Amino acid sequence: MDDVLSTTTRKQAAPLKELDDWDDFVATRYQPGKSEDQFRNYRADANPTVTEFYRQNHAHQTLDFVLKKKAEYCGLLRGKKSIWEMAEYLNTLGDESDPDTDLSQIEHLLQTSEAIRKDGHPRWFILTGFVHDLGKVLCLYGEPQWAVVGDTFPVGCAYSDQVVFPEFFAANPDSQVPEYQTQYGIYEPHCGLDKVDLSFGHDEYIYQVARNYLPEEGLYMLRYHSFYAAHRHNAYRHLMNEHDEEGFAWVRTFNPYDLYSKGRERPDMKAILPFYQDLVSEFFPDQIDW
Ligand SMILES: [Fe+2]
Ligand SMILES: [Fe+2]
Repeated sequence: MDDVLSTTTRKQAAPLKELDDWDDFVATRYQPGKSEDQFRNYRADANPTVTEFYRQNHAHQTLDFVLKKKAEYCGLLRGKKSIWEMAEYLNTLGDESDPDTDLSQIEHLLQTSEAIRKDGHPRWFILTGFVHDLGKVLCLYGEPQWAVVGDTFPVGCAYSDQVVFPEFFAANPDSQVPEYQTQYGIYEPHCGLDKVDLSFGHDEYIYQVARNYLPEEGLYMLRYHSFYAAHRHNAYRHLMNEHDEEGFAWVRTFNPYDLYSKGRERPDMKAILPFYQDLVSEFFPDQIDW
């Protein structure tokens, strides 16, 4: 009986079969060639598990929750590990998936970074692509899917209707707090996103881990790559400052590599590994705080 119960609880906290089902949904949502109107039709692309995932994400990501998770993880007190150890750890996430059809986590990272490399971008940009999803290890720390992936959005101020499934915010306790539901909420006009708390997930965590090692353009890519309402739909400009506007140009440059590199051929790990070993050690010390 206990086993049945815990399986049920686990399924409730993990509606997605795999974490990547969310990434796949976003890629479908923004398939090249789609019109603005078609983007808005995303509900048709969302299967019931993706919809349930967003229902949980929007209901549970409160300002209180975000502050609690930031206090828990952003001090990087979980010990030292190399980038490579973390990449291998993250790879244990997709262990049950089909190795013939599903890409491993490391393969997604390398496909992204290889696409960036082929376009002749600078080394820091390639490296940013390689590490951008390492924050998904939050899932292995025991965080529910809705606290690891999903489109991010500011908390503590009114929700934009440019965030997917805005109707699900009605179930968020913050929607009953009038102070959090004005346009600016707890923030000042154009205060800069650094002062704004976004829903918690893998973007913020990898940003904190990498913040001392990558250039600012790369840090913007890490921190805001899931903030689709802003980088795809121009929402929340009233909270952004000029510096953010410049940073978001980089987030927009990065996004297609994240979304559309999946269909490409599988990376030849053996051939490219030496390049990445050099690249990682150029920017990161052997061991970093996580
Ligand atoms: Fe991501
Ligand atoms: Fe990604």
